[in-house]
Amino acid sequence: MLIDIVSVAPELLDSPFAHSIMKRAHDKGLLQVRTHNLRNWAINKHGQVDDYQYGGGAGMVMLCEPLANMIEHLQKEHTYDEIIYMTPDGPTFNQSMANQLSLKNNLLIICGHYKGIDQRIRDHYITCEISIGDYVLSGGELAAAVVVDAIGRIIPGVLNDETSALTDSFQDNLLAPPVYTRPADFKGWKVPDILLQGDPKKVEAWRLEQSMERTKTRRPDLLKKWD
Ligand code: ADE
Repeated sequence: MLIDIVSVAPELLDSPFAHSIMKRAHDKGLLQVRTHNLRNWAINKHGQVDDYQYGGGAGMVMLCEPLANMIEHLQKEHTYDEIIYMTPDGPTFNQSMANQLSLKNNLLIICGHYKGIDQRIRDHYITCEISIGDYVLSGGELAAAVVVDAIGRIIPGVLNDETSALTDSFQDNLLAPPVYTRPADFKGWKVPDILLQGDPKKVEAWRLEQSMERTKTRRPDLLKKWD
């Protein structure tokens, strides 16, 4: 999968994909993330990519021209399955969106800054809008990093059995059950017996029960979607 990210601050995205599972996805040739500096498409030598908003009001708006030129330039090289705009007024990102996006080949992500991008770019180029939650970040880069991480780790072949995504929280609208590792007794705090008895069926039933219980107390809204 290729993910191109357009940003006025691409340095913010240098580190998130250079480690751990994202690095493994890259090294296995399963995920290529490229960042593109929108300032290279500025309308003048001062690097201008934004301007005051029509109608007045505080905050700058990202100009049509650099964004349109950059998107059209990238589209000459690749056909994108989705052109995604990171914005707090988009639909809230969730596991099901991550699952769907992980099956695509080429994604283009646009990071907004300031008051956001001119509405005409949203109307004519953007095919998908994503918010990562009901709060406002200073730019779309960290939100894009969250989305790319959630997508990248579930691209088929990235995780091995040990780290399988199938048992993650949210994959079946249930939170994951509690987990334990050695030692079986730490300061007198014991691992539940059932996990030590070596009966996979009982362990599975216990985990499901724990997942249900956790979801009921912490996220009852998820259970409504479960049946
Ligand atoms: N840009 C600023 N805030 C954001 C958010 N919550 N989600 C996605 N993009 C954003």
